[in-house]
Amino acid sequence: MRWDPARYAAFTDERSRPFHDLVARISGPFQDGQEAPRRVVDLGCGPGALTATLADRWPTADVVGVDSSAEMLADAAPLAADHPRLSFELGAIEDWTPGPEDDVVVTNAALHWVPSHTTLLPRWLAAMPDGAWFAMQVPGNFDSPSHALMRAVAADGPWAPALDRVLQADPVLDGAGYLDLFASAGFATVAWETTYLQLLPGEDPVLAWVRGTGLRPALAALDTADPTGTTTAAFEAAYATRLRQAYPSGPHGTVYPFRRVFAVGRKR
Ligand SMILES: C[S@@+](CC[C@H](N)C(=O)[O-])C[C@H]1O[C@@H](n2cnc3c(N)ncnc32)[C@H](O)[C@@H]1O
Repeated sequence: MRWDPARYAAFTDERSRPFHDLVARISGPFQDGQEAPRRVVDLGCGPGALTATLADRWPTADVVGVDSSAEMLADAAPLAADHPRLSFELGAIEDWTPGPEDDVVVTNAALHWVPSHTTLLPRWLAAMPDGAWFAMQVPGNFDSPSHALMRAVAADGPWAPALDRVLQADPVLDGAGYLDLFASAGFATVAWETTYLQLLPGEDPVLAWVRGTGLRPALAALDTADPTGTTTAAFEAAYATRLRQAYPSGPHGTVYPFRRVFAVGRKR
């Protein structure tokens, strides 16, 4: 599935809040009492701006962003010029394995695109060095109106055949599930769930938000079925009508509750 960095960049500030809350839970010392990690990996790094904040925080660490989207990495690449130890690699999360110096692994809003991650996580955690940190955040909003309405509209219209089985449930656990998984791997762990009340400006802001992420599989399927864009426009119009009812615009903007699941652990 192709990603569109420009669409993803809408709401950059709002989208980055969970990342900052996630990495705030990571604190040294790291391996052998060192104040800085040796290597930091960001799985599913996207356009790289958040990965660069890790390089700012730990300037002596090698910081590597991994992503399978060439479009996203094209945006990320120039950031490496400003950070001598920052690099980006094109690759699938499924193919990644921890190296012996990977003292910090961060993955923000990416593992829900990797259905096998609950099988991979125990292997990754077992392979990480002692004292290493693994910090992850995934969506917990599959049952929210934005996503339930997306599925309802997808199933009810001339576009339904093209969207059959395209919008699958996010393959994620709840916080307790990740807590158990991390603790079973010998990690001292905190897990939590947060609903951010994102205050969004403009017309149809929830549609604009999901266009950058959760709606992408549907948009890709509709684009394949009808490259003229007519079906996409009709589908989006029907979906926008339902979203306006679920998320009415108020005096300060549109409030979009945005639930996220976090787990952060340090290997004992
Ligand atoms: C919602 S974006 C999150 C980007 C970034 N972590 C952030 O917080 O802004 C999800 C990213 O995961 C990447 N991704 C999805 N599935 C992947 C996979 N199997 N392997 C590598 N990257 C993947 C996408 O290309 C996309 O850049």
